[in-house]
Formats: sequence, structure tokens, C-alpha cells
Amino acid sequence: MSALTAVILAAGKGVRMKSDIPKVLHCVAGKPMLAHVLDAAEVAGCARKIVITGFGADKVASVVKEQAEIAEQKEQLGTGHAVIQAKPLLKDFNGTVMILCGDTPLLDGSDLRRFYEQHTETGNQATVLTAVLPDATGYGRIVRAADGRIEKIVEQKDALVKELDIKEINTGIYCFDSTELFAALEKVDCNNAQGEYYLTDVIAKLVEKDAKVGAVIAADAASVMGVNSRRDLAVAEKWLRWKTNNHMMDEGVTIIDPENTYIDANVVIGRDTIIQPYTWLEGNTVIGKNCVIGPNTRLTNMQIGDGSSLHFTYAHDAAVGKNTNIGPFVHIRPDSCLADGVKVGNFVEIKNSSVGKGSKLPHLSYIGDADVGENVNIGCGCIIVNYDGKKKSRTNIGDNAFVGCNSNLVAPVVLGDNCYIAAGSTITKEVPGNCLGVARARQRNIDCWQGPGGR
Ligand code: UD1
Ligand code: CA
Repeated sequence: MSALTAVILAAGKGVRMKSDIPKVLHCVAGKPMLAHVLDAAEVAGCARKIVITGFGADKVASVVKEQAEIAEQKEQLGTGHAVIQAKPLLKDFNGTVMILCGDTPLLDGSDLRRFYEQHTETGNQATVLTAVLPDATGYGRIVRAADGRIEKIVEQKDALVKELDIKEINTGIYCFDSTELFAALEKVDCNNAQGEYYLTDVIAKLVEKDAKVGAVIAADAASVMGVNSRRDLAVAEKWLRWKTNNHMMDEGVTIIDPENTYIDANVVIGRDTIIQPYTWLEGNTVIGKNCVIGPNTRLTNMQIGDGSSLHFTYAHDAAVGKNTNIGPFVHIRPDSCLADGVKVGNFVEIKNSSVGKGSKLPHLSYIGDADVGENVNIGCGCIIVNYDGKKKSRTNIGDNAFVGCNSNLVAPVVLGDNCYIAAGSTITKEVPGNCLGVARARQRNIDCWQGPGGR
């Protein structure tokens, strides 16, 4: 048997979204809907994937990257017309084509795999995946004959009143024998309410010529939902987050308040980590074991080592080691790397800097473009002056340095190992190892400042 090929329809504008962004690029759980569909196709075992692009083709292609081949549908004349665009790429292919839509972000790859197996086991030339919904509004309806066999799919806009009562809907997912599919598509016209070439009409065409056509009801109706509007998008978002949170809890993560915890689909969390309320874990964030994250914490593309605690923190595109203690009110910015046992406290911002093992930055500091050694103590209010108005420069602080409160370190500057900086200094020159750097005016006391007897 030839390998399974997926054709993913993603050319539509998504008029009902009222958006300048192609519909399939709207995100669910932090990832474009199309990317979810591509992942599901991968899990289903699709050896080839072809994405049909159209509206915003370049933007869509930039999300697809090397994950799939692309065929462009210059004019959006309907789902049937969209599938025809894949024909040149499949001219030497003779196997099963699985059709998916880019606007169904909740698909489960293993369910798709089972659907494909059902298709091949029955020897069908076409199998439609259907779902039974309490409210079928907006979907194509599955019309079955008295003996239960599928006869056709009728779109909502073309349906007779009695057909509108049908609760079994077309999910937009099908398996086809490729030769039969393209032959039937030749016969599809656009004489319908929307003036489009409907892929759904292929089913009636195949039934007419006595091909073997089946319809399989999806076990999980929620996972095949199509997103057509912003309201649908919010429903999908909630459903996927709920699923992700449940999965995390099943794997040994405590989530104090799943209703108020927002974890993107690609996030990884180790066991016995506790996620406190109002926490956003986004992108490719990876969190170790035994951590406490939150409350009120947003981590985007962060690596967090085991046993760390981050609360009231916003951190993105950076890495934090094991057993660190971060927060409250900390901002860790891109390209920062904090080693094991680091402590960062109230109102500290760290950007493009490394901080060595066991160092402490407990209060009110800006650390930008700096390499801070091990066991360094950065006093309250210490500022790294990394920008002279034209360029940024780096600062290097050696191991065991002690930087007194309210110091300015004017970059580029080097502080040697074991050095001390007197509180209130503005350091502009190197401080060698083991030295005390003092750079502030001496104190003068002026007698009788308020005159005899005071004010
Ligand atoms: C479609 C089905 C409907 C089914 C529903 C499931 C048709 C005619 N109708 O309706 O039976 O219940 O999906 O969610 O197939 N697209 C293109 N090119 C086009 C038109 C659409 O690539 O010319 C793409 C869209 O980007 C989208 C997908 O096809 O990803 C489905 O199109 P959409 O307009 O959302 O169809 P529905 O009305 O939802
Ligand atoms: Ca749709």
C-alpha cells in the first residue's frame, strides 16, 4: 500500500473572523491552528503533507516551513477546487489521501490514525469522518439512506428544512482513494447557494457510480470542531487549555486553579511542580521537577531547572538553573542565563546577562549586558550603566564580588574577583581583584548648619 498523504485546506480568508490575518494562522493555545493540524497529521502517520494556501499565501507558507509541501489556490472557489490544486503534486501517487482543514485545531493525531485504519480495513474508496452534535448549526449535514448508508453531504446553506434537523455533521475530514477522488472532482460543479466547488459533492458523485463510500462517527465530537468565528476561537482555546491542564495533572503536576492557568500546547513540566493561579506558561517553556511557579507569573520560551521558585515574575527567552528563587516583581529578558542557586528579588530586571552560581540580586537593580560571577552580592539599587546613548557595552563582575547599595557600574568595566564596591559609588574604571573600589565624594559635616538654637 502506498503511504498516506494529507492534503490540508488552508486557502480561505475566513470571512467570518473579520480579520486581516488568514484564519488558519489565528492561534489556539499559543500556536497557529494550522500548526496544530500539521502536528496531528504527523502523529497520524502521514508520510507526505500538502498544504493548500491562498489568502495570505506567503504568511501561511512561513508557518508551514519544511513541515509540508505547498500548492497555491490562486482564487478561492471552494473546498473541492482547493483539493484539485494538489493534483499536480500527486500525479504519480496512487494511495490514500486524507483531507484535513486548517481550521480544526483540536484534532487528535491518534484518532486520525484509527480513522485511516478503519478506511483501509473496510476497503472503502471514500470514508467521511462525521460527528453527532446537539447543535449542528453551520456544518454540512450527513444524509443517509433508509438502510443507513451515506448518500450525500448537504451544506447548511443548501439544506432543505428537514435536512437541517439532521444532527450528524461532516467534520471536513475524509480518506479517499486518490484516483477516485480526482476523477470525482472533475464532475463537481458550482450550482449551489454559495456558487462554490464543494468537496462535499464528491461523496454523492462516488455514491452515484457505486463506489464503496462509508461514514464513521468520531468518538470525540469536540476534537473535530471547526473554527469559523472569534467565538469559535474562544471555545477552542478553552477546550485545548482544559485538555492540556488535565494532561499535566495526569502526569503529576499540581495546578491549584486550572480555570485560571494558561499553559500552551508545547510546554513541558516536571512532576511535583506546583502551578499557582494566574500563571501563563507559553511557547516552548520547559520547567523541571519540584518547582513552584506563580502566582501571577508569565514565562515565555523559558528553561527552568528543578526545585526553582518563581513568583510574580515575567521571564522570556532565557534560562534559569536549579534551586533558584525568583520574585516578586522580576523581569528576566532574552538571552539571560541564571545558574543554580541564584536569588533575584523585588523589582530587578536582568537582560542579556549571565549570573553565576549562588549569586544574589535581592532588590531594585538593573543588570544589562553583564557577566556576573559566582557568589556575587549585588546590593540594593545597583545599576549597570550599559548604554551611552549610542552603543551598549558589557560589564564583567568577578566571583565573590560585593557591590554596595546604590552603585552605578558604567560599562565597559571589569570588577575583579573578591572585590568590594563602596555603596553609592559610580565605577568607571576597572577594580582589580581583592580591592575596595570607592568612587564617591567624601562626606563633609558643616557645623551649626541651622544657626544657633536651630530653626
Ligand atoms: C466545510 C464543509 C462542511 C463541514 C465543515 C467542517 C465544504 C463545502 N463544507 O464547511 O461540510 O461541515 O467544513 O468544519 O467543504 N478553503 C480553501 N479554499 C477554498 C475554500 C475553503 O482552502 O476555496 C479551506 C479553508 O481555509 C478552511 C477549509 O477549507 O480551512 C474549510 O473551509 P470553510 O469555509 O471553513 O468551510 P465550512 O463552511 O466550515
Ligand atoms: Ca470551517
